[in-house]
Formats: sequence, structure tokens, C-alpha cells
Amino acid sequence: MPFPILGTLWCFGFCWQQNTLSKLSKVYGKVFTIWVGPMPIVVVNGFHAVKQVLINQAEETNWRVVTPFIRDSMKGKGILFSSGPAWKEQRRFAMATLRSLGLGRKSLEHRVQEEAGKLVEIFSSKEGKAFDPSLPLFHSISNVISSVVFGHYFSIHDETFCKLIECIEYMAQFFLSTFHLLYELSPWLMRHLPGPHQKAFSCLEFIHLFGRNEIQKHLEKKKPEDEPQDFIDFYLDEIDRKKQDPTSTFDEDNLVYVIYDLFTAGTDTVATTLRWALLFMVVHPDVQEKIQEEIDTVLTPFQRIFYEDRKNMPYTNAVIHEIQRFKFVLLVGTFRLCAKDAAVLGFPIKKGTVIAPDIASALYDPEQWETPHQFNPNHFLDKDGKFFTRDAFIPFSIGQRLCLGENLAKMELFLFLTNLLQAFTLQQPEGTKEPSTRPVQGRFAVQPSPYMICAVPRKAAA
Ligand code: HEM
Repeated sequence: MPFPILGTLWCFGFCWQQNTLSKLSKVYGKVFTIWVGPMPIVVVNGFHAVKQVLINQAEETNWRVVTPFIRDSMKGKGILFSSGPAWKEQRRFAMATLRSLGLGRKSLEHRVQEEAGKLVEIFSSKEGKAFDPSLPLFHSISNVISSVVFGHYFSIHDETFCKLIECIEYMAQFFLSTFHLLYELSPWLMRHLPGPHQKAFSCLEFIHLFGRNEIQKHLEKKKPEDEPQDFIDFYLDEIDRKKQDPTSTFDEDNLVYVIYDLFTAGTDTVATTLRWALLFMVVHPDVQEKIQEEIDTVLTPFQRIFYEDRKNMPYTNAVIHEIQRFKFVLLVGTFRLCAKDAAVLGFPIKKGTVIAPDIASALYDPEQWETPHQFNPNHFLDKDGKFFTRDAFIPFSIGQRLCLGENLAKMELFLFLTNLLQAFTLQQPEGTKEPSTRPVQGRFAVQPSPYMICAVPRKAAA
């Protein structure tokens, strides 16, 4: 029953959690409508129904929803919030560029290995004393994206870079705030009022300015004969190549939005998954020990770890997959706009309807997983202990808007976790209570509560 202004927010007790939609699905079925303010949203629940939307009806449902805040802030540019031919062109280019950056001497893997090595040094500098790993993790993952996009790293003491990280974090929180909802409901009023939404716009401006400065530096040092080294180099070449094409969507303005997308989509997600991973190592020391045994069997102490090594580490690989399944980091997977009439499980869905294929519901679908609500790495191991993946493992989504950074993210998760566990045993500080594995509310990424760990150097690696 939707009320004016509130819609059906009362159903959720005004508090949106990752399982909110699944709970409603138990009452209303696999396809049902909720109202956020005056906007009806058709929710699609369970792996098969989600797949029907994202794969079988991909053409009909690959548009993003343009709410007033998204329109005012993203202006239909970039990749994450754009749609139609402009989105297709930008996405295709970004995919191809990330592939090209994966090759060569300064490959993506090399960039990730470098950052993982630096993180090991930071953990080492704590000398086994208790510390909160969130900031170093976030900083390291942001630096991987910096290296990919800008071609260089930033120091943890660089004030401008710290402000950039702060702004990305602020935006991630703002999306779930009441002020965001108020803006969506009455943008004409909110545009003129002070409040956190104005800070969100300032943060966006700062992130854009940061991007513009980097583009400027690239333009100044660029020589026509130089091979492109980073994302900005490739993009500037593409602007040049498409100069004569009046339909081209490549320009510096769009590049600024693409940079924003890569940073926002590629930092919080990976850093938060790693925060969950470290927490699970502390809470499940037996799991940590088995991963370390595998590392020690496959590699000699100090031996550099490559992404390829995961093929000989089925247990480690299974644990990482299970963490991504069990602690899926996005509160709401993805909202789409039906660009054409569609149908899901026999229910007709009209053009213009907002649709929410609930990715979390696929990751917890009781028809797909033996123990959906338990942390169980065996979900990804066969009876001989060999790794296998499953169709319903879709934390990166599926279909035409599948996460653009999937390969990079998987590489980061594997290399960061194995590098840390090769060097340290992670423990909860002595005399403290076991940290909670319940997520904190109010964030777009589903975060663990802040926790402290001790990184005790391992004998072999010490
Ligand atoms: C654990 C890490 C990550 C997870 C769980 C994740 C998950 C997702 C999901 C669920 C989507 C929405 C897809 C849809 O609309 O159906 C998405 C989109 C996207 N992701 Fe990721 N992501 C991760 C890491 C990354 C990284 C490292 C990058 C950057 C290199 C990245 C860049 C993007 C972009 C640009 C999109 C928009 C794609 C589009 O709209 O066409 N993501 N991601």
C-alpha cells in the first residue's frame, strides 16, 4: 500500500538492508512492486528471475534510471549512469583499454603486485600491534586505480589525494541518506537549500577538478610518438582519432566522468570486500591456516605471487568466492529502466518501468546454494577439493552491463589477500571480544563494523 510521499518505505521500517527485498519476496513472490516516494519499482528476486531480466531481456533492460539527482550530477555522461549509444561507445572503449593495459611491461598485474607489496610494508610497520586496516586498504586500492587511470601513485600523505578519497567515501554514504531521497522527491526546492546534498555536489566538483588537472598534465607532457601508458593516454588518443566524427562521444568532459566512474565503482567495492576477507580470517583462524598451508605448498617463502597461481590454490580461490557471495558488498545490486516492453516470469513490464533485479537474492537463493546463509567455502569445491564456479555466483552482475572491472577486481582480491597471508597471521588483539561480522547500516557498500587486527609476521616470511 503506497502512501503519498513515503510510498512503501514504511514496509522496510525506514531502514533498507541487503535482505529487505528478499524478506518482502517471501510474502509477495518473485516479482513485486515497491514504491520509493511516487516511483514504482518492480523487484525481481531469485537467480532464475534475475537471469531472465539481465540475460534474456538484456536489450529491453540495459538502461539506467535517470533520477533528478543522477541527472543533475552525472549529466548522462560516463559509463556507470549513462545509457543508449553513448554508454555503449564509452563502455566498449573502456573495456578494450583495460584489456590493452593488462598487457605489456607495466601490466595491470604488475601494478596490483606493487601496491600489494606496499601494503605488506605498511602492515609490517605496525610491528604486530593492533590497528584498523580500513584506511591502508582503501588507500592501496585507490592507488591501483590511480596507477591504471593516471599512470602514477599517490602518497598516503598527499593531502589532495586524501581529500579525493574522502570525497569518494562521502558520495558513497550520501546515496543512502535521507537528503538524497529528499532531493529525488523535490529537486526544485533542494537545489536552493543548504544541506549535505550541497556537500555532495562540492565533492563531485572536487573529484572532477582532480580529473581535469590530471588530464591537463597528460596533455602538457604528451608527445605524438609516445606509446599510451595509462587510461588517460588512451582516451586522449581516441579523442584525436574521432575528431572528425560528429557523432563521437569522446571529449575531455566525458573523460572526467569516466574517471569518476572508475574511481567510485573500483575502490569502495574492492576495499570493502578485502575488509570482509581480513575480518573472516580473524574470525575463522582454521580457514586462514588452510590458506597459508596452500600458499606455503605452492610457493617458497618470499616468492612473488602471480594471479596464475590461483589455479594451484583451489581452497584460497574458493574462500575468496565465498566471501564475495556471503558478504556481497552492494546494498542494492542495480536499478534498470525498461527501454521497451518486457516480461518476467510471465508478468508484463511496461516500457518506462524501473526494475530492480536483486543480485543479492541470487547469491542467497536456496535453490542454488546448499547453505545460503552460512559461510561455506565448500560451495565452490567439488568432492576432490577442486575449485569450480557456479552460474548463480553473480556479484559482478551478468549481461550487457556486467561489471567492467571484474577481472581487475578478481586479481586484486587474490593478490592482496595472498600477499598479506604469506607474510602475516592476522589475529584479533589480545583480550578483546571477537569482532562482529554483522554489517553496519547506512552505507551504499555493505561494510563490516570497524575492527582492529594484529598482523603477526609469520616465521617463514619474517
Ligand atoms: C569486488 C569488486 C566489485 C564488485 C562486486 C562490482 C560489482 C559491480 C556490479 C554489481 C555492477 C552493476 C552491473 C549492472 O548494472 O548490472 C558493476 C558495474 C560497474 N563496475 Fe564494478 N564491481 C567491482 C569492482 C569494480 C572495479 C575494480 C571497477 C573498475 C575498474 C569497476 C567498474 C565498474 C563500472 C564502470 C561499472 C558500470 C558498468 C556499466 O554500467 O556498463 N567495478 N560492478
